[in-house]
Amino acid sequence: MAKIKFGIVGLGRIGKIHLDNLLQMDELEVVAVADLTVLDSPSLLKRLAIKGIDLVTTSYETMINSKTLDAVVICTPNESHADYIEIAAKAGIHIFCEKPLDLNLNRVVEVLSVVKDSGVKLMLGFNRRFDKEFIKIHDLVEEGEVGTPHLVKITSRDPGAPPISYIKKSGGLFLDMTIHDFDMARYIVGKEVTEVYAKGAVLVDKKIGEAGDIDTAIVILTYEDQSMAIIDNSREAKYGYDQRIEVFGSKGMVQSNNNFHDTHQLFTSEGVKTSLPLNFFLERYADAYKNELQNFLRCLISGDSPPVNGHDGLISLKIGLAALKSYKEERPVRIDEI
Ligand SMILES: NC(=O)c1ccc[n+]([C@@H]2O[C@H](COP(=O)([O-])OP(=O)(O)OC[C@H]3O[C@@H](n4cnc5c(N)ncnc54)[C@H](O)[C@@H]3O)[C@@H](O)[C@H]2O)c1
Repeated sequence: MAKIKFGIVGLGRIGKIHLDNLLQMDELEVVAVADLTVLDSPSLLKRLAIKGIDLVTTSYETMINSKTLDAVVICTPNESHADYIEIAAKAGIHIFCEKPLDLNLNRVVEVLSVVKDSGVKLMLGFNRRFDKEFIKIHDLVEEGEVGTPHLVKITSRDPGAPPISYIKKSGGLFLDMTIHDFDMARYIVGKEVTEVYAKGAVLVDKKIGEAGDIDTAIVILTYEDQSMAIIDNSREAKYGYDQRIEVFGSKGMVQSNNNFHDTHQLFTSEGVKTSLPLNFFLERYADAYKNELQNFLRCLISGDSPPVNGHDGLISLKIGLAALKSYKEERPVRIDEI
């Protein structure tokens, strides 16, 4: 069978990870990369040449118009996602795009309609759905091991805040960071959210407040059956990346712990010490990033629908916008208000 021809746009933090993972997959061939600054990096250019990637360009349009691609992986900053999805869909190219689809709801609806008309597959990079700890919780809940879920607790704290320049363009904590947790809240119990109540504060860095954002938040979600989820976020956890989920139900409770550098425990007269949790998303979710692209590839080969689609992106954006409205107006906001 001919190899599926992939292109990738955006070779920053996440793009490099996706490129490395694509290069390890036998059923595909990376034939093109596009990045605004790729030509300024001799070491990266050398690596791409060694891997035999034919087209290296600063222009996404050049890559798409080369007519060599079956699929594209979009890893550029948020503001280009909608346009780049639209361009690829119109060219009949399957799309894996990093989250979010866009920060504007109308634009997302518009783009999803173009994707639907084109018939290409679109998968969104909600990588946490491909983390083995969270898959285990999801599967146990689905198998009924905790009975009917009543309460979900999601802790999601970053080890450190991104630069203020990033914060300013990110769409804010709810749309940049909590959006992953909104998706997890739906995925983990398979229920839809009907109402959002969000509180936020600037407790980590006042420059984040000056940039118009918050760095600490609590969000209460109500599901369609009146069960609830609570999400807590911080931009700075001194001990590392804190990613935990718990589901409590009518028959029991299931929880996942953080992943640590190693599992040793040092016992002395002063106490017990362990390693810190893995530091950030690139380490904690290294396997999840591989797993999500393997899933995308499997869908291209089998013709199945992607496990995370445009609708999931749309719903998580709606929950995020409801959270923002709730925080600003200091009241619970129903999703159907958005
Ligand atoms: N799923 C996750 O865990 C996760 C983690 C981090 C980032 N992200 C998402 O991935 C995207 C990229 O984030 P990042 O942290 O890798 O950003 P980054 O700033 O590290 O990298 C962006 C790259 O895109 C290139 N670029 C920018 N505009 C371009 C354009 N118009 N055409 C071609 N290249 C362009 C830049 O040169 C840069 O190399 C964002 O949408 C972000 O939300 C997802």
